[in-house]
Amino acid sequence: MKARPYSAWISRVYIFAMAALAFTGMMQMPLAKRYYLTEVPGMAWTGDFFIVHKLHYIFAALLLFVIGVVVANWFLEWRDKLTLTPLGMARVGIVAGLVISGGLRVYRGLPDVTLDPIFVLTVEWVHLVLFMIMGGVALAALIKRCSAFAQAR
Ligand code: HEM
Repeated sequence: MKARPYSAWISRVYIFAMAALAFTGMMQMPLAKRYYLTEVPGMAWTGDFFIVHKLHYIFAALLLFVIGVVVANWFLEWRDKLTLTPLGMARVGIVAGLVISGGLRVYRGLPDVTLDPIFVLTVEWVHLVLFMIMGGVALAALIKRCSAFAQAR
């Protein structure tokens, strides 16, 4: 990993949480059985909705933790020293959208919560489309060799 103006562990935890969320998110759509991933030794769990659903929540908590660390550091210290790159800014917006739409999906899943079906469908599509856009933007940042969100001013 290229030298960053902030600790490497933050990037590593973020990349791990995002990759794990992308994987467990996809496994919540019934892809694992359809594409025989469940037949691969050690991968049978990918077909169990409740396991991947719980894992998605655990990795979401990890992502929220790393976001909390970054936001606190940003306001305490980094905002005078660092500036977001254009692709960094785009990804901040996408991650924010994923967290908000993910949170709304969690809320929708609570017992006794009934929401307008159009609203529920919109939130589902927003979460899925942002996931796809995030994949494209993250790939573009990797190819352009500017995967760091921020650089020194
Ligand atoms: C705080 C962060 C997040 C929360 C709370 C969250 C929560 C959820 C919930 C509740 C579901 C629906 C499960 C169901 O009932 O079917 C879901 C689905 C999904 N999530 Fe997340 N999520 C978060 C972040 C992410 C991120 C960062 C990604 C991608 C990198 C992602 C990718 C997906 C995908 C692909 C699906 C399945 C497709 C869909 O139904 O929209 N999620 N998420």
